[in-house]
Amino acid sequence: MRIKLNVNNVAATVDVLPDMPLLWVLRDVMNLKGSKFGCGMGLCGACTVLVGGHAVRSCMMKVGAIDGQPVTTIEGLSPDGLHPVQVAWEALDVPQCGYCQAGQIMSAAALLQRTPHPTDTEIDTAMSGNLCRCGTYTRIRQAIHEAAQAGAAAPNQ
Ligand code: FES
Ligand code: FES
Repeated sequence: MRIKLNVNNVAATVDVLPDMPLLWVLRDVMNLKGSKFGCGMGLCGACTVLVGGHAVRSCMMKVGAIDGQPVTTIEGLSPDGLHPVQVAWEALDVPQCGYCQAGQIMSAAALLQRTPHPTDTEIDTAMSGNLCRCGTYTRIRQAIHEAAQAGAAAPNQ
């Protein structure tokens, strides 16, 4: 079945079954490897992307259910890698092994879009579904505050 998508502001048509998970389409059909496969069960957040501006677990979302909403992956969060969340992540040297980090950044960007200046509690709640085996949670929280100060809700997403 041919399904029309808009991924990172680029129109695309993919010929896949409508119940294929979005993560499979992104990685295996569109060759966008930034979103990671972790659990495949909606439990770890490594596959997080934005659909219609909301953070979703792409391993759990059927591509046929996207229904014209724009999809943003880590590759499309900013044209130059300088989204305030990415800048803060680099400034604070957040990643360790890095495997979870694309999902962390996408969840953080979605949080700041709807809550420009979140409290620690709001950050912890919003990010609780993004697991990090390396335990970078303290730096993630600091980086989100730093990105908020820099105006991460500004529309370059
Ligand atoms: S791979 Fe999607 S939530 Fe873990
Ligand atoms: S940086 Fe290693 S799992 Fe998060």
